[in-house]
Amino acid sequence: MRLSAAGACSPAHSPATARLASVRAARAPCRVRQVAAVPAAAGANGASGGNSAAPGAAASNSNGAAGHLEVYRVGNATNIRWFEVMVEREDKERLLGQRGCMLWFTGLSGSGKSTVACTLEHMLHELGHFTVLLDGDNIRHGLNKDLGFSAEDRAENIRRIGEVAKLFADSGAVTMTSFISPYRADRDMVRERCRPGEFLEVHMAVPIEVCEARDPKGLYKKARAGLIKNFTGIDDPYEAPLAPEIAVTPYDEEGNMRSPRQMALQILDTLQELGYLRDPAMPTLAVASALQRKHSDGILDFSCL
Ligand SMILES: Nc1ncnc2c1ncn2[C@@H]1O[C@H](COP(=O)(O)OP(=O)(O)OP(=O)(O)O)[C@@H](O)[C@H]1O
Ligand SMILES: [Mg+2]
Repeated sequence: MRLSAAGACSPAHSPATARLASVRAARAPCRVRQVAAVPAAAGANGASGGNSAAPGAAASNSNGAAGHLEVYRVGNATNIRWFEVMVEREDKERLLGQRGCMLWFTGLSGSGKSTVACTLEHMLHELGHFTVLLDGDNIRHGLNKDLGFSAEDRAENIRRIGEVAKLFADSGAVTMTSFISPYRADRDMVRERCRPGEFLEVHMAVPIEVCEARDPKGLYKKARAGLIKNFTGIDDPYEAPLAPEIAVTPYDEEGNMRSPRQMALQILDTLQELGYLRDPAMPTLAVASALQRKHSDGILDFSCL
């Protein structure tokens, strides 16, 4: 299907459709990985590698003429297949002109995780980057509404968020998560699921006195009055990161409180320095090559993307 400048689609069996079909046929089809047979006994629940390796443990499954298909046992589920996707992560990153990553904001309630992440997302959007922001309260309204605040539930909360964030990062998004995530082991568990350089821990290193003085949701007041139990920083611990990729401190060299914008700029600068973001003035490779393949009627040719 080809989109004209006016947005009209060409008919289903147009030459453009045929061209796209031939491009698709020329590429490796979306497939299930073909492997030699692995004894089913080897399919005990394995740790998920997280990166390019498919998760779970492999078992074999005869597939007639096609040979053996690799299937996995994941948790209680069997016959899970890991599909090789046709559009690779790198293809998507090239299209977006950025590297997929996970900015994991952690810090006490009121430290400014949501405020700074939101400010940063606006900045990135203005620069033409694709972002996703997962924020604490919103996730607990839906995906994690069955979870409470016990240590077990907090761990499961973080695990699920990490998996969701990883899916977005795998799709090339600059993904931000804004959760207190007080336990080091939980954050490290997410880090271990990521490929090198994908996980960037952003520590909002704001002292509890500052957070408590802000108290934007009135939660510290309630916790001090004993109305909320297991409140991080009051009667539940916060384990600060030992070596965060980015530490955001509240004061500048003169001792003045830094604004959320200054903090977001610090993170933006780091992303640019580390090569996660392309120069916004450059068109993406995908757009540049489509421009070169402009049809005689002036319509851009995106069929080979
Ligand atoms: N320099 C600053 N950086 C961030 N927030 C600031 C700053 N100065 C004042 N604030 C205020 O502090 C509050 C921070 O609240 P915010 O909801 O962002 O914290 P949080 O870390 O997301 O907390 P929670 O874990 O409860 O969601 C906001 O009301 C914000 O306006
Ligand atoms: Mg928040």
